[in-house]
Amino acid sequence: MGKLRRTAGSWRDRQERDPYVQQARRDGWRSRAVYKLEQINQKEQILRPDMVCVDVGSAPGGWSQYVIKKLKGRARIVAVDVLPMDFLLGVDFIRGDFLDETVFVQILNTLGDKGVDLVMSDIAPNITGNRVVDQPRSMYLVESAFELAQRSLKQGGSFICKMFQGEGIDEFVSDARKSFGRVKVMKPKASRIGNREVYLVARNYQL
Ligand SMILES: C[S@@+](CC[C@H](N)C(=O)[O-])C[C@H]1O[C@@H](n2cnc3c(N)ncnc32)[C@H](O)[C@@H]1O
Repeated sequence: MGKLRRTAGSWRDRQERDPYVQQARRDGWRSRAVYKLEQINQKEQILRPDMVCVDVGSAPGGWSQYVIKKLKGRARIVAVDVLPMDFLLGVDFIRGDFLDETVFVQILNTLGDKGVDLVMSDIAPNITGNRVVDQPRSMYLVESAFELAQRSLKQGGSFICKMFQGEGIDEFVSDARKSFGRVKVMKPKASRIGNREVYLVARNYQL
């Protein structure tokens, strides 16, 4: 059987050359995505001891791992993903599609009456390459994460959400400004250049 050949531009090849992938391996992080959250937090100082967080699209668990480590275990997280995620102390993991109302309700039930300080979503849709299909899918995920934030955040809470630049983004950011005292759109350095992803970073939720 012939050997599988990788082209220089293949995803695996890019992963191998990516300095953040290499650094994540060295530092024992579950994903390179950790550096995006770290860079957002360095600028915005969102993470605070004893906070309650929801992490949607959490697998393999880099963001949850970062929050727990940064806050020295003083955090409670409910994490959700369609994919499995290895155990992390301080994290209640729910496996399921958060767009599914039963999973949505399960997240809210797991939180009980604890007001949430931070909802973070690093969810990315399965990209087809066709913007006409991908952008509405991405906006639906973003709007659903926003709905979860609105249904769970306490007064003053924060929301971090991956979005893809394109149709619908400006209206969404304007809507977010009506619910939060401060809203920024950030492109952390660890987010690959050429990738249309940016992050909404919204603070000071107004009930
Ligand atoms: C970029 S990864 C998240 C990486 C994570 N922040 C980390 O640091 O390890 C995006 C995740 O979103 C998940 N996802 C996509 N759609 C989802 C959905 N509807 N419900 C739950 N998870 C979803 C994917 O399975 C994937 O694990």
